[in-house]
Amino acid sequence: MTSSTPRDPASLRDLLAFYADAGVDAALEEEPQDRLAEPPAQAIQQPPSPASQPHAAAPTPAQREFRNPAPQPAASPAQFASRVAVPDEAQALRARDMAREAKSIEELHEILAGFDGCNLKFTAKNLVFADGNPQADLMLVGEAPGREEDLEGRPFVGRSGKLLDRILAAIGRDRTSAYISNVIPWRPPGNRDPSPMETEICRPFIERHIELAQPKVLVTLGNPSTKLLLNTKTGIMRMRGTWAVHVTTGGLEVPTMPTLHPAYLLRNPAHKKLSWQDFLAVKMKLRELAD
Ligand code: URA
Repeated sequence: MTSSTPRDPASLRDLLAFYADAGVDAALEEEPQDRLAEPPAQAIQQPPSPASQPHAAAPTPAQREFRNPAPQPAASPAQFASRVAVPDEAQALRARDMAREAKSIEELHEILAGFDGCNLKFTAKNLVFADGNPQADLMLVGEAPGREEDLEGRPFVGRSGKLLDRILAAIGRDRTSAYISNVIPWRPPGNRDPSPMETEICRPFIERHIELAQPKVLVTLGNPSTKLLLNTKTGIMRMRGTWAVHVTTGGLEVPTMPTLHPAYLLRNPAHKKLSWQDFLAVKMKLRELAD
C-alpha cells in the first residue's frame, strides 16, 4: 500500500469495491505486490560491482531476477509464428479458414482451443466453448463469458445462467434438451465489452458452431448476439419477440428468436414477462417443427 492508501476498514472496503467495479477482481500472483510503492533506493542505483562490495548482503530473489533475467526457452516455429504480431484483419481471415475446416463440433472445439489469434485468450483462464446437448433442436447464444463461466469453462453458470435455467424449465427444457454457447468464447477482462475486431475474429467460430449443431430453432440472447447473428443494427427492444432467420455461411436457414439477455432481466425484472412471451413462441415453434 502507498502512504496515501486509507487504512481504516470502511475506506479500505470502498477502495476494494472501486477496484471490483473497475474490473480488478483477480490477483495475478500468489503474493500481493505494491507496484505503486517507492522503489527502494538501491534498486535505482547502478548495481555495484561484486569486487567493490565484498561484504554486501546476499541479493533478494527479486534482485537476483533483476540482475539475471531468466533465460527464455527458444520458441518453436509454431510458437514463433503466433508470437509475431499478425494484423487483426489477418486473424479474422485465419479464423474463417480454420473454422471452415472443422467437420464436427469436437473438431471445432479442438481448433478453437489451438487458435491464438484473439488477444482475449491470453487474459482468460479457460476457453468457454459450449454446454448442454449438441444434438438438441434448440440452441441459445449469449454474448461472452463472465467471471464464473471463465473459472468453470462453461457458459451461463453464474447468476444469469441460473435465471436462464429457470426460463428453460418454464418451457419444459434443461441442459439435456438445449445447447448453449456464446459469440465470444473467452472472458473479456473485467467483463468489458468485446471490441468490434475481437467480435469479428470470433464470428466465424460461432457461425460454424451453429452450422455444425444444426438446431431447428436458434435463440439470440441480448443485443450483441442478435446484431451479429441476424446481421442487423436494430436494437434488441425492437427485434425481440419477432421471428427472424439466421443464415449460416453454408446457406442453412435457421428460424431465430431474438430475446432479452438474462443479465438484463436480473436488472429489469419487470421485463421478464416479455422474455416469457418470447420463450412461449419458441416452445410453440419447436412443437410445430417436430410435427
Ligand atoms: N453472459 C453471457 O452472455 N454468457 C455467459 O456465458 C454468461 C453470461
